[in-house]
Amino acid sequence: MLAKFSRRGFAKLAGLAALGAAAGARGAENDAPAVDRHAPAPFPKEFLWGTATSSYQIEGAVNEDGRGKSIWDIFSHTPGKIEDGSTGDRANEHYHRYKEDVALIKALGVKAYRFSIAWPRVFPEGTGQPNPKGLDFYNRLVDELLANGITPYATLYHWDLPQALQDRVGGWQSSDTSKAFADYAAYVAARLTDRVKTVFTVNEVGRFVNFGYGWGIDAPGPKLPTAQLNQARHHVALGHGLAVQAIRARPRTSPPACRAIATPDNIRAAEIATRELNAGFLGVVLEGKYTDGLLAYAGADAPKFTPDELKIIGTPNDFVGLNIYAPQFYVTASERASGFHVLPFPTSFPHMNSEWLRIGPEVIYWAPRLAAKVWNIENIYISENGTSSEDKIAADGQVYDLDRIMFLRNYLTQMQRAISEGVPIRGYFLWSLMDNFEWIFGYGKRFGVYRVDFETQARVPKLSAAFYRDVVARNAIGV
Ligand code: NOJ
Repeated sequence: MLAKFSRRGFAKLAGLAALGAAAGARGAENDAPAVDRHAPAPFPKEFLWGTATSSYQIEGAVNEDGRGKSIWDIFSHTPGKIEDGSTGDRANEHYHRYKEDVALIKALGVKAYRFSIAWPRVFPEGTGQPNPKGLDFYNRLVDELLANGITPYATLYHWDLPQALQDRVGGWQSSDTSKAFADYAAYVAARLTDRVKTVFTVNEVGRFVNFGYGWGIDAPGPKLPTAQLNQARHHVALGHGLAVQAIRARPRTSPPACRAIATPDNIRAAEIATRELNAGFLGVVLEGKYTDGLLAYAGADAPKFTPDELKIIGTPNDFVGLNIYAPQFYVTASERASGFHVLPFPTSFPHMNSEWLRIGPEVIYWAPRLAAKVWNIENIYISENGTSSEDKIAADGQVYDLDRIMFLRNYLTQMQRAISEGVPIRGYFLWSLMDNFEWIFGYGKRFGVYRVDFETQARVPKLSAAFYRDVVARNAIGV
């Protein structure tokens, strides 16, 4: 069985968070008893600190123990698709070095690790005959994590679809893939959930559907017209719902809108925008229906669905995971029918080492706050947050990734702010444990708090590893 958090447990947590906020306010009013204004703001006692990776990005061993091909094997081997011409064939050799990597997680002091399961290891053909050796790897990994006091959090789909399904039915273009996903989910759940109590279904739907099937810049790479793209997204939502029913799993996706200036009108506009701009996946999953706005906007391109499918898609979830990196939209209130106006980003808006990664720490405050309000969500995990950095090795052999530390300090401060106001964020998974295959950017963008030398496979902690270890140990952001 998967763990269920009792409402009571969470009421307690919320109470703690509220208490923390109240105590801070009292100190500021009275000036006595002495309150250290510089003391770092604490997180709730039960707050879950973690780190995250995904299968294709770290495992390597793509031809071992009966693993089938995934769409990313084929895509990365297609000339011109990956910026540095690399593939995930070897990656971090995590398939063989997982014990060493679990030791790295342990050294950070975190209590949770989010990894993903490679579907084509478990079902090389996507459906049909399972490959027990594939699942054995995750059994070994889970046992190693538990033996080291680290709680496993598994993601079922982090983009490595079996190529066989792509070839046979066009991948997510067909509801056959939704059904195959449910069977795979049920198979995995039956074998892992005695030890893995929390399962995420699909990672960043917006990205893999739009980039993979719409713009054709991620695997598998077709450029579908809008109607077919919307249908593919619907099949992912259906796959999610069927999987939840099979195992009582939970969704995760990319997040909502920020308000440009926090007037009540703009906050309301951001709530409306959050609902409408996420209506194609998170919205339909949490509401069991597409919004009128989405259906009107899509018109003839709207996905085709049955009432039964909507019921399946809307199966209740235990929590929502949000991957939070960059603000996607800033909005203001508008007289228009939509109720919001999406503002253009100035080209001078600052970004991190990855150009798409705009710096907006307040997004980790606003996105969970807005999502919790709009959909009445009780439990949120920040399933990913982090940044790439140049990560040069200094003359003394160290990596002084001060920009990553700056980024994390600011985002974590905003997350703490949200929690102190009662936003139900229960845990945080730093992306990523170690540098890895960053999809179309190959190994050129490094997101880890451990540096990886991809020639020797040596892993070396960056300065940010020490920063994060300190946050976790204090359960607070050091000043
Ligand atoms: C989110 C994706 O889930 C992950 O795979 C990727 O590496 C990070 N973003 C950074 O781009």
